[in-house]
Amino acid sequence: MLDLVTVILAAGKGTRMKSKLPKVLHKAAGKPMLQHVLDAAKGAGAKRNIVVVGFGGEMVKEAMGDQAEFVVQAEQLGTGHAVRQTEALLKDEQGTVVVLCGDTPLVTADLITKLYEGHKAAGAKATVLTAIMPDATGYGRIIRTADGDVARIVEQKDATEEERKINEVNSGIYCFECQDLFAALAQVGCDNAQGEYYLPDVLGILRDKGEKIWAVAADDYESTLGINSRLQLSGAEKILRRRKNIELMNNGVTLMDPDSTFVDADVEIGPDTIIYPFTWLETGTVVGAGCEIGPNSRFSNAKIGNDVHAQFAYGHDCIIDDGVTMGPYVHIRPNSHIHNHVKIGNFVEVKNSQVGEGTKLPHLQYIGDADVGANVNLGCGTVTVNYDGKKKFRTTIGDNAFVGCNTSLVAPVEVGDGAYIGAGSVITKNVPSGTLAIGRARQKLIEGWTDKRE
Ligand code: UD1
Ligand code: CA
Repeated sequence: MLDLVTVILAAGKGTRMKSKLPKVLHKAAGKPMLQHVLDAAKGAGAKRNIVVVGFGGEMVKEAMGDQAEFVVQAEQLGTGHAVRQTEALLKDEQGTVVVLCGDTPLVTADLITKLYEGHKAAGAKATVLTAIMPDATGYGRIIRTADGDVARIVEQKDATEEERKINEVNSGIYCFECQDLFAALAQVGCDNAQGEYYLPDVLGILRDKGEKIWAVAADDYESTLGINSRLQLSGAEKILRRRKNIELMNNGVTLMDPDSTFVDADVEIGPDTIIYPFTWLETGTVVGAGCEIGPNSRFSNAKIGNDVHAQFAYGHDCIIDDGVTMGPYVHIRPNSHIHNHVKIGNFVEVKNSQVGEGTKLPHLQYIGDADVGANVNLGCGTVTVNYDGKKKFRTTIGDNAFVGCNTSLVAPVEVGDGAYIGAGSVITKNVPSGTLAIGRARQKLIEGWTDKRE
């Protein structure tokens, strides 16, 4: 852990997002932007993280829980004003503060560490992280002296025509010596194009006092991109997904088409797994080794074992053990546990059920609220009738049972080990182990009927 506190600015409404949701809660690659920033701060070893909230503050606090300390900025009077709100919390802090923005989700722990180390090595009072932007529109520009030192930062709206041509920008990420920061903030005014208290003005103020200010350049501009609009959010999404895909491929996962493979940051995938195109693997999902997932599959909070083959499948909040095959067109709903080597064919839905080892659901089944044993064969069109319009009931099917095609199992009902059910049955009573149950009208034959027909 470093002697480092972070202050993360997240009070702005994000007007340009045109949203009821505070900007920093908009997700990129499955995670709120603010969460990406917090994860980077934690990864860099910050000892405290303070988030400044304002617009939608309660929502932001709820989403982040106990991961940070929070300070409320009641009125959004600018980034300098936002940082000032943390003064009471930091009055005894003698070390370094890194200020981050909640809308820069591409920042990494490595970049924060690089900034911190550069700041310390320079012995500066303030250090700004800069980047060379291909399109600097909207960013504050870095104004340097003839000697190349940072003189001050000028916002887009206050910049002259000449200054706007500068493509070295303020990333919105800085290191400050804590007590110098608050002393300078007290002198920041709001006589500018936006009538706001600008945090970047602190640099000019410290410099005028004769203090050392410094700049560290980011290796690539991407990691510092600030997200102000939905278009920019989609750009961040692409970069985050690309980073994740590269990490996966480096760890031995084959992605047939990385551009159409969408894997959230926390998803783990084992080696020699192949992911086919148009596949989404979302938060909480773990995929084992040697699997083939996709094409066109989506798993969310699913624990998938080794050697699983799934195509055109959707599973959420479920467990799928080793060697399971499923698809096409399968829906595994919450609280389902599919044990080893189960075979699930086409057009099958499983909900809140256990399916035992080696059992087959080859085509057109609905298995809801059921406990199905091992090596069971469920014929085409088997349906658990689990709902009477008011309440849900469970179905139990023992090991090695054989259920004929088009059977309705009207729950609550139990089918014993090794029992057989004739095709087309409506089963309303328990079927004991070792018996054959047939629950359908007998077939009648009317001889000569065709000829007698008028
Ligand atoms: C800011 C910088 C700009 C920099 C850019 C980098 C200022 C004045 N400008 O501009 O130099 O190039 O970031 O992305 O700092 N916020 C608050 N309270 C406020 C105002 C803003 O908490 O009163 C928060 C926002 O929620 C956001 C962050 O501060 O997370 C930055 O604010 P934003 O309005 O996006 O600043 P930019 O115009 O992008
Ligand atoms: Ca911004």
